[in-house]
Amino acid sequence: MNKINLGVLASGRGSNLQSIMDACESGRIPARVAMVISDNSGAFALERARRAGIKAEFIDPEDYSGKADFERKIVEVLQQNDVELVCLAGYMRLVGKGLLAAFNERIINIHPALLPSFPGLHAQEQAWNYGVKFSGCTVHFVDEGMDTGPIILQAVVPVYASDTAETLAERILEQEHKIYPEAVRLFCEGKLEIKGRKVYIKE
Ligand code: GAR
Repeated sequence: MNKINLGVLASGRGSNLQSIMDACESGRIPARVAMVISDNSGAFALERARRAGIKAEFIDPEDYSGKADFERKIVEVLQQNDVELVCLAGYMRLVGKGLLAAFNERIINIHPALLPSFPGLHAQEQAWNYGVKFSGCTVHFVDEGMDTGPIILQAVVPVYASDTAETLAERILEQEHKIYPEAVRLFCEGKLEIKGRKVYIKE
């Protein structure tokens, strides 16, 4: 099977990027990470990519006049590297029209809650504060909304009375590292079909 070129956008430590790189490396996913882009010069994700011999670039939003301009640059770099699927891995910006149009139905995201509950920032803390008994994570296609696109996979974790937002986040992260590579695999093997809000998995 031909390998799919992935482009990963990450703003921070990059543990989800790592789980995808590892799955590519082991052959579990028929893909290679072709390019990592960050909007944060200090993102450890960039370092992880470079250590693995993967191209990594910091694109400074401050250098551009606005979101459209900034995303034009991102699209240019992704296209120059023949990226076919864009994976948001802790990318802390709302995706705009330009990026969406260039990669229609080819951008996916991992969110640390059971969507549609707790979209946006600090989802694990939102869930913990709310007092839910179960939370989890979601991999979904990206649309113009905030964490609103069609859902590919979810994993559930319990919330214990002894938890803090941090221990809950750790439990969720463990599941993120399982379902994100799995969702990427399904995409790369052509097993995902979007019909309206629903994603059907053809295994
Ligand atoms: C992950 O928990 C991811 O789900 C979350 O940021 C963290 C990034 O960690 N993403 C969002 O909250 C997106 N709204 P990582 O850099 O170690 O992958």
